[in-house]
Amino acid sequence: MEFQLHSQPKDCQWPVKTREFQNHHFDSTIWNEFKFRDDDIVIATYAKSGTTWGQQIVAQLIFNGDPDLEVAEMSPWLDLRVPPKEIKLPLVEAQTHRRVLKTHLLVDALVFSPKAKYIYIGRDGRDILWSLYHHHLNANNIWYELVNETPGRVGPPIKPPCKDIREYWHNWLAGDGYPFWSFWENIRSWWQIRHLPNLLFLHYENLKHDMPGEISRIAAFLNIPINESKWPAIIKHCSFEWMKKNGNKTVPLGGLLWNGGAQTFINKGKSGRWKETLTADECLKYEQLAETELGFACSQWLATGNTSYLDAEN
Ligand code: A3P
Repeated sequence: MEFQLHSQPKDCQWPVKTREFQNHHFDSTIWNEFKFRDDDIVIATYAKSGTTWGQQIVAQLIFNGDPDLEVAEMSPWLDLRVPPKEIKLPLVEAQTHRRVLKTHLLVDALVFSPKAKYIYIGRDGRDILWSLYHHHLNANNIWYELVNETPGRVGPPIKPPCKDIREYWHNWLAGDGYPFWSFWENIRSWWQIRHLPNLLFLHYENLKHDMPGEISRIAAFLNIPINESKWPAIIKHCSFEWMKKNGNKTVPLGGLLWNGGAQTFINKGKSGRWKETLTADECLKYEQLAETELGFACSQWLATGNTSYLDAEN
């Protein structure tokens, strides 16, 4: 995929929107009407990569470890087409705190602000898929009604998943994100702009292995001073255990859209569950495809989180 970039200010090339992206979930046109503020924060992922975790971390930093934050409400998925932009935009406009927006769009369907701060979180495609299958399998009638039956859907409705995760995996890989959206395009589009000064690249594995260290990096990037006395509360409220127990405040609509509620959404928080199912050959096929689609450095970063790959030339 080629980006159109324009260079303003001088030293930096900013992405320019080249297309809209609309389907059962998305309405990218909302960004065309969104009025940015200079201190806005945008958290971006393909999906199932730790978006909610990132939102919780940022909200904890902004609000000094407050345990009672309604993070899902505070931090809407802007390009989700429900509720429609006529309802969502005034709500976001009315927010008086530092805003935290969530997106699952690829870069060239966004309107990109040079002043807002962007956080991108990557995760191995196999871990994403294992998380996504559970998410889709447990989606309830309200979920299907919202994504399929509300006005504004573009393209076909989304159907319930097949009963076998391996079959689901093969369909997702063969259909590049089917029945959701392109995986490779999303990763590639963000990877291409990873050197922009207002974008912080994070990886699920690094958040798992050193959450305090990663939270400090996020705070520094967002220019949020850490109140030392609140640090233990911030760490506690971003832990998997705390978020699983208290997910009703953090997860979209408090988990209303999934059987089992918020605890279904915050599921296992583990990597590598696919190792029990995928054969060595199936893994190799994925790894080869990742390298073809993303190039060596990006595919290695995605599989490992090793930040040295971020310095690669392409
Ligand atoms: P699993 O389904 O593998 O458990 P997203 O918010 O992008 O939809 O991502 C959801 C995934 O992030 C789920 O993965 C969820 O359990 C995991 N997650 C959420 N909060 C977490 C935390 N504090 N620590 C580890 N994983 C977390």
